[in-house]
Amino acid sequence: MNIILIGFMGSGKSTVGKILSEILDFNFIDIDSEIEKIENLKIKEIFRIYGEDFFRVKEKEILKKLINSKKNVIATGGGIVVDKKNQQILKRLGIIFFLKISKHTFTERVKYDNNRPLKSKQNLFKIRQKYYKNLADYIISSDYNEPFNIAYTIKNIYENCCR
Ligand code: S3P
Repeated sequence: MNIILIGFMGSGKSTVGKILSEILDFNFIDIDSEIEKIENLKIKEIFRIYGEDFFRVKEKEILKKLINSKKNVIATGGGIVVDKKNQQILKRLGIIFFLKISKHTFTERVKYDNNRPLKSKQNLFKIRQKYYKNLADYIISSDYNEPFNIAYTIKNIYENCCR
């Protein structure tokens, strides 16, 4: 069993995931970071040089490698949920938590971020919401919530449902 964090850019998947992995004594896997390590490039460079399709192929490759793994907290990239095959793999991997933020929170949190090539893409926030909702086992509001609180909330849910 793994714990998977999904949600839009800026929802705190990586920050919460790291804390959660420590308090549960799980491994922490950040799919975007894995891709950056393998390619030895930042996400924005991967998009600039090779394009989004290439990035999506890499994203799926990492996900496939995780099949049959357990005791990981997995922080996903905001777009991983769109692909059908990815959805199936994510469901098989474990329990899925959607860290939900408002559009306003998103805008504020990524304002000065220059490693998110899709942050200005029109309508993306709205389009993505149904994917997160459909895939989520649990929805956690992440707007006015500290990463530590969110991590402990997830830990409690996990320990009561799945351990
Ligand atoms: C993306 C979100 C990013 C990263 C890439 C594409 C998206 O991850 O995977 O820039 O399509 O929403 P974060 O959600 O961690 O910012």
